[in-house]
Amino acid sequence: MRKISALLMFVFFLLASSKVFSAGPHEGLDCLGCHDPHYAKAQKIFKVKNDKYINPRTGKKTQGINALCLGCHNLTEFGGAGVRPIFLHMTHPVGIKPNPKIAKVPEQLLRDGVLQCVSCHDPHPSNPNWKYLRVDTKNGSQVGVFCMTCHPAKVDTKFYGVTQIKIFTSMNEETGPGQFSLDDPNLVIFNPTPNYIKPLGDYPNDIGPAYMTVPNEAWIYSPDPAKLPPELKSLLNK
Ligand code: HEC
Ligand code: HEC
Ligand code: HEC
Ligand code: HEC
Repeated sequence: MRKISALLMFVFFLLASSKVFSAGPHEGLDCLGCHDPHYAKAQKIFKVKNDKYINPRTGKKTQGINALCLGCHNLTEFGGAGVRPIFLHMTHPVGIKPNPKIAKVPEQLLRDGVLQCVSCHDPHPSNPNWKYLRVDTKNGSQVGVFCMTCHPAKVDTKFYGVTQIKIFTSMNEETGPGQFSLDDPNLVIFNPTPNYIKPLGDYPNDIGPAYMTVPNEAWIYSPDPAKLPPELKSLLNK
């Protein structure tokens, strides 16, 4: 609980210092708002994780990267930090495997084959687009160009005068951040975390550490060893 109120105060501080936001609100999170180098809660050393909110589309708790975003972007009683809450029961579907008749989603935009928040948003501060969308919508005046990424049969391309969609990604350090066409070999937007970062269990936000890095030699600490996944348990028994 204390951690959540600390996060709320932190967010309030961010909101109060408007200068921090001049280049987009995530700037003020200063990397550590989303990534924790030592006491991470999830994949890619994510700092927060919503472990309460049920996705009405799946009937399960929110998974993967969605759980990071909703760790802030939901009301506190639903496992978030009260920042611009996103309610999944009134949101575009997320957490589902796309039906190809409804959406034609480029493979690189899925995570584990599933549509997630990052399918539409690249949340890194380097993204100059409106609302951190992956496509430039001219400040929200051409949202159809963005929807066209996955629903091309619905969009009148002539209206926008657009022939090629450019996708923003910050996920390829070899090229730097930028816009890439879908057939561009430099469009690397999925880069799986090396598997030496192992989840040790499903812990709420105010209990840490939930994740540990496991170097070549197994060195494992868990507040509840019973909850260790089998592959780590077997390392302990060695
Ligand atoms: C709003 C939350 C947020 C902030 C702030 C943020 N990140 Fe991230 N970061 C993410 C997400 C989400 C991913 C996974 C993105 C994906 O799969 O497309 C990620 C992935 C990464 C990765 C892994 C890339 C890979 O190839 O696996 C690195 C490195 C990283 N971020 C560094 C940073 C740095 C440095 C900063 C500060 C400048 C930062 N992040 C700020 C959310 C954030
Ligand atoms: C550590 C908390 C935190 C996390 C995690 C986080 N955000 Fe945010 N986000 C913020 C704050 C703070 C703002 C600014 C809110 C405001 O201005 O009212 C914001 C604003 C936004 C905005 C609006 C930007 C604008 O220009 O109006 C979008 C879109 C957004 N976040 C998407 C995401 C996505 C997608 C993720 C997950 C990949 C994510 N956020 C994860 C804290 C977070
Ligand atoms: C990154 C890909 C992607 C983008 C971008 C995208 N969609 Fe979707 N959309 C999907 C997927 C996937 C589904 C769900 C398909 C399914 O049910 O299997 C979907 C479903 C829908 C549905 C049906 C919702 C329902 O409840 O059945 C609507 C309407 C829709 N999208 C509108 C939009 C609009 C409007 C935009 C632009 C603001 C947009 N989409 C952008 C991938 C996308
Ligand atoms: C199908 C694409 C799509 C998906 C998936 C998606 N978003 Fe968005 N999001 C948008 C668009 C378009 C906007 C800008 C229009 C708006 O504000 O409604 C937006 C706006 C936002 C905003 C800013 C709202 C504001 O008040 O300005 C936040 C925060 C946000 N999204 C977070 C999320 C989170 C968290 C997820 C995952 C649970 C998510 N988005 C998934 C397309 C998407």
